[in-house]
Amino acid sequence: MKFSYQEMPETLKGTYAEASQAWGFSWKEFVATVPSPLLLVTTYKQNGLPNACMQSWATFTSANRGKGFYAILGSVNKNGHLYATLQEKKEAVINFVSAVSFEKCMATIKNNQPEADEISVSGLTPRPASWVNAPMVEECFMNLECRYQWEKEIVPGDDHALICLEVIGVHIDEAYLKDRTGDQGVLFNIHHPQNPEITEKTGHDYAGIIQKKIDMGEY
Ligand SMILES: Cc1cc2nc3c(=O)[nH]c(=O)nc-3n(C[C@H](O)[C@H](O)[C@H](O)COP(=O)(O)O)c2cc1C
Repeated sequence: MKFSYQEMPETLKGTYAEASQAWGFSWKEFVATVPSPLLLVTTYKQNGLPNACMQSWATFTSANRGKGFYAILGSVNKNGHLYATLQEKKEAVINFVSAVSFEKCMATIKNNQPEADEISVSGLTPRPASWVNAPMVEECFMNLECRYQWEKEIVPGDDHALICLEVIGVHIDEAYLKDRTGDQGVLFNIHHPQNPEITEKTGHDYAGIIQKKIDMGEY
């Protein structure tokens, strides 16, 4: 049996799913709850200090007939420091968050002051990237060095932008090269699932890992 929703169900009215439209979220996001990877995007601020910004509404794809690999940051707040630093420096590193580095990466959100080296203050180690002008985070198991390509508003006039970055180079821990899944692999944001068939005033956010299920080489 499937439930179908097009308008906000009565049970979601007055709950977190309705209230969070004020922060830019549609109630459909909490009903569909499509997991997306947890990333820490690092840049240099105008004063030369590292900026760090958690991002999650993101995906990756090859393009240009296989000549390039690209990150699509689907929803970058135009009023945040990441947006401003990308406009100025045009380069960034995408650091992958694991369960081990999760707490420290999340601490960058409260260490968001302009005068802070947001990576060091959060207990992480900044290293200069090899091919772009941006810092990267030592403790993250994979770092993608990126160059800004273009941006677009999903809906004209939106306060968030979809930004395309080209991946210039990759740094990967040996352990992750051997096994991309499990406890030490990519963490996914499971954003506040809510079940419209019951009234819950609020739910929870979760971070999840993935496991291999089917060998698709058979198909
Ligand atoms: C799990 C998680 C995911 C997030 N994803 C995004 C995102 O995709 N886009 C965004 O603009 N902010 C996102 N944020 C909020 C920013 O990380 C946060 O506002 C940050 O402090 C902004 O940093 P900045 O001012 O240095 O850009 C996320 C926060 C969390 C906790």
